[in-house]
Amino acid sequence: EITEVRAMEILDSRGRPTLEVTVGLRDGSIDVAGVPSGASTGRREAVERRDGDPARYDGQGVQGAVEAVNGEIADLLRGRTWTGLPNVDTALIDLDGTANKSRLGANAIVGVSMACARALAAASGRELWRWLTPAGVQPRLPVPSFNVINGGVHAPNPLDFQEFMITPIGAPSMAEAVRAGAQVYAALRRLLHSLHEVTGLGDEGGFAPQIREPEDALRFLVTAIENGGYRAGADGVMIALDPAASEFHHDGRYRVAGAHLSSSELIDRYTEMLAFFPIWSIEDGLAEDDWDGWAYLTARLGDQVQLVGDDIFVTNTAIIADAIDQRIGNAALIKVNQIGTVTEALHAIDTCRQAGYAQMVSHRSGETTDTFIADLAVGSGCGQLKTGAPARGERIAKYNRLLRIAAEHPELAYGPCSVEA
Ligand code: PGA
Ligand code: ZN
Repeated sequence: EITEVRAMEILDSRGRPTLEVTVGLRDGSIDVAGVPSGASTGRREAVERRDGDPARYDGQGVQGAVEAVNGEIADLLRGRTWTGLPNVDTALIDLDGTANKSRLGANAIVGVSMACARALAAASGRELWRWLTPAGVQPRLPVPSFNVINGGVHAPNPLDFQEFMITPIGAPSMAEAVRAGAQVYAALRRLLHSLHEVTGLGDEGGFAPQIREPEDALRFLVTAIENGGYRAGADGVMIALDPAASEFHHDGRYRVAGAHLSSSELIDRYTEMLAFFPIWSIEDGLAEDDWDGWAYLTARLGDQVQLVGDDIFVTNTAIIADAIDQRIGNAALIKVNQIGTVTEALHAIDTCRQAGYAQMVSHRSGETTDTFIADLAVGSGCGQLKTGAPARGERIAKYNRLLRIAAEHPELAYGPCSVEA
């Protein structure tokens, strides 16, 4: 039985307000969740509720969402025995009553969903990741993608592509993958320093050098991988990109380092990058509204590289199902706050799995020290997680959680699942 549901305003990693939600059970156990927040959000995401009062936090306050938790949501959940998270999440969706969770706020709802998941897991005596594992699924330690160069809306540099990640695809274990990420990150810092580049950090902990061509960032990564003591390639460390192309798509053109590219010209650019650099994954290579371009991108490169939909899919099962029908992409990014409940995120993962689409669980650029997504990545068995650089406390919290799970459960398999169905 849920006896307590409450929220308060806390800060996220950008110093902006977000929610912390606490759920207590009759047995005395108490669980807390911190709500993440994106900066390059998809148009069809569940809607984050902000107060808009310019006198507080430049309008970014979340007191309204906090009140929704402490009032309506607490009234709904308290004093009742809930048999499973799907029941809780369905009740939250019904109470909100909108298609995009805008009335109560997706930030309110997702915090409650995450805290309830923790509480119900604790009541069952199981660890969160184990409790989250769907029937018939093998939990698995995910290969991490470390975002080591930041651009786009995550950093004040001229680089249009948002994320340059390193993925230790050839690492034999979780601990070795984390070591590879940290060593390459350190090598990258030394390299940038030697080139008199700034080593200040972007929102996700990656460096934000004053470069603008994506190929320059790729060259830096290959050098850093080698200087860090690894091979750049499938037996060592590979590169994953998240250009977040919706952010530089204007009037039907993609603006990359001063050039105005059509979809097919940008696809040509990716094709060239794939020929010269060890890239295994491209997320949001084209804009969320460019479905024709995405179909062409998938037809051209889908058998060579993972093509992840983030802004275009927004962890929404209905949109992912459309994309599967139209052969758009071959993988989905999974962000719990993008759809608004843990149950719906698990459903999106399941839909992908059934269709042979890969899944990558993800943080947001605005985070707290909450480690829910580490458990979700392991429990869902999806095989992939991106949660920023191996630096900054809110990112490290997730990687350290993975290290702890790995150390305590040597029986867990590690690494990406095959992309093929
Ligand atoms: P966001 O970016 O959290 O700022 O939306 C992350 C991403 O695009 O993957
Ligand atoms: Zn993205």
